Amino acid sequence: MSTASSPIPVITIDGPSASGKGTVAERVAAALGFHFLDSGALYRLTALSAMKHGVALDDEAGVAALAARLPATFRGGSVWLENENVTDAIRAETVGEGASKVAALPAVRAALLDRQRAYCQLPGLVADGRDMGTVVFAGAVAKVFLTASAEARAGRRYKQLIEKGNSASLTALVADMQARDARDSARTVAPLKPAPDALLLDTTHMDIESAVQAVLAHYHSKQ
Ligand code: C5P
Repeated sequence: MSTASSPIPVITIDGPSASGKGTVAERVAAALGFHFLDSGALYRLTALSAMKHGVALDDEAGVAALAARLPATFRGGSVWLENENVTDAIRAETVGEGASKVAALPAVRAALLDRQRAYCQLPGLVADGRDMGTVVFAGAVAKVFLTASAEARAGRRYKQLIEKGNSASLTALVADMQARDARDSARTVAPLKPAPDALLLDTTHMDIESAVQAVLAHYHSKQ
């Protein structure tokens, strides 16, 4: 049941990169007719914006200023930054790395908070990220922490890159994945960790559809 302080149902899905949470969250949102927030895209857009404007990724005030007025829009399946279609650009590994760096800056996280909370609208929201259940929507009705081994996640990312015609090294991907996990988990502000009341879902040996069904079952059990 949704609480009195939060009448709009929110489902949070947090977890490390390439755990499948984005796809699962999107499908859960579609199944329930809820809104969907890909919070990682906002950090990616912030990093891309900093790169384009020549702002150093460790310039906290400079990057936070960009994040506060991020001229980004989501239209259908595409993402735009200052009238440029950046749907593919924000998925590049370099931008993911940059996102992880700017996401460690407290002022950047603060600048993106209201923007994320604005997605909480009827009939409900499915939000995916790292701190959806612990910080941004701490009062969510159902929380899930989705994970998978670094090898399984690197394997999935490898497949995606190869399918898109990119070259990739599995060994390098495992190393990148572990470095990003370490940075996301070790940072002092909003580190990657499950909310105490989150359902832990290990998808190492689970397909997407089973994960979607498990999240839906968890949500329905809370109503
Ligand atoms: O989920 P995705 O890989 O797109 O996120 C990119 C980066 O943004 C993550 O590595 C993480 O550092 C950061 N992030 C975050 N908090 C969120 C979502 C993403 O710190 N809620």
